[in-house]
Amino acid sequence: MHEDLQREFSLESRTAVITGAASGIGRETACILARAGARLILADIDAAGLAITAGLINDQGGTAHIRPANVADRADVEALAADAAERNGVDIWINAAAIHFAAPMLEAPPAATERLLSINLLGTYWSCAAAARVMQPRGKGSIINFSSTGADRPTPGISAYAMAKAAVNMLTRTAATEFGPLGIRVNAVAPGFVDTPMVSFRYADETGAINPARREEVLRLLSEGIPLGEIGTPRDIALAILYLASDASRHVTGQILRVNGGASMP
Ligand SMILES: NC(=O)c1ccc[n+]([C@@H]2O[C@H](COP(=O)([O-])OP(=O)(O)OC[C@H]3O[C@@H](n4cnc5c(N)ncnc54)[C@H](O)[C@@H]3O)[C@@H](O)[C@H]2O)c1
Repeated sequence: MHEDLQREFSLESRTAVITGAASGIGRETACILARAGARLILADIDAAGLAITAGLINDQGGTAHIRPANVADRADVEALAADAAERNGVDIWINAAAIHFAAPMLEAPPAATERLLSINLLGTYWSCAAAARVMQPRGKGSIINFSSTGADRPTPGISAYAMAKAAVNMLTRTAATEFGPLGIRVNAVAPGFVDTPMVSFRYADETGAINPARREEVLRLLSEGIPLGEIGTPRDIALAILYLASDASRHVTGQILRVNGGASMP
């Protein structure tokens, strides 16, 4: 690859904050961004999981700092941003933190619905604002939110999750219009089904133990509805995020990048 292209995709001397970095796609994104040269600030409520992610990054010669944080707590998110800014400044902020639960609307426990909205929607909202606050004085930055194919296709049993992700789409586009004049880009990735701890309930038994045969069957059935014929991997999503984080996407903002094998094309 020619040097000019390498430079445009490189994250050398950039600092990236990633929420939800203790697991799944957030963890893989942290590893990929570190390999592209970024220093990482890893945030999550799961401190043990953060230590594992930091270990993976250190093993590959990268730099990662652990900062436990609860995205549903606005003051904690503001403090995370202030800490990160004081360290190296913040160039990239990725909002992967989220939870999931499945229940029909007539059975969904109100407390679970409120908790989901406070993390998946308000947590993303607080994080966008906190990120932009510390990026503004530098006149640049890239914020990347997490949407979902669930925001495109009405699916019974995931109303709260889908509602939050659909709202994240509009938050992304509105923030892009507000922050664009400040030099800050705001985009979202929208994965289809990706096999992570978030979705293992689909093939776990009543005790939560994973049933390998059921897992294989569920993944096969899910693949059947996808034009490209397979479900995505955390790496597929992380590579899209690398693009949105880097200068290669310098003219891209307010976009929802669907990385779902064609599962939805609105
Ligand atoms: N896995 C999928 O099929 C899929 C599909 C579409 C979108 N997504 C989105 O991708 C993102 C990553 O999901 P994943 O599949 O890697 O899930 P995951 O469960 O593996 O990771 C989510 C992380 O968020 C953290 N988290 C939860 N609540 C938090 C809080 N209040 N504060 C800070 N951190 C918190 C968890 O501790 C966990 O480490 C999420 O936004 C999810 O909605 C996932």
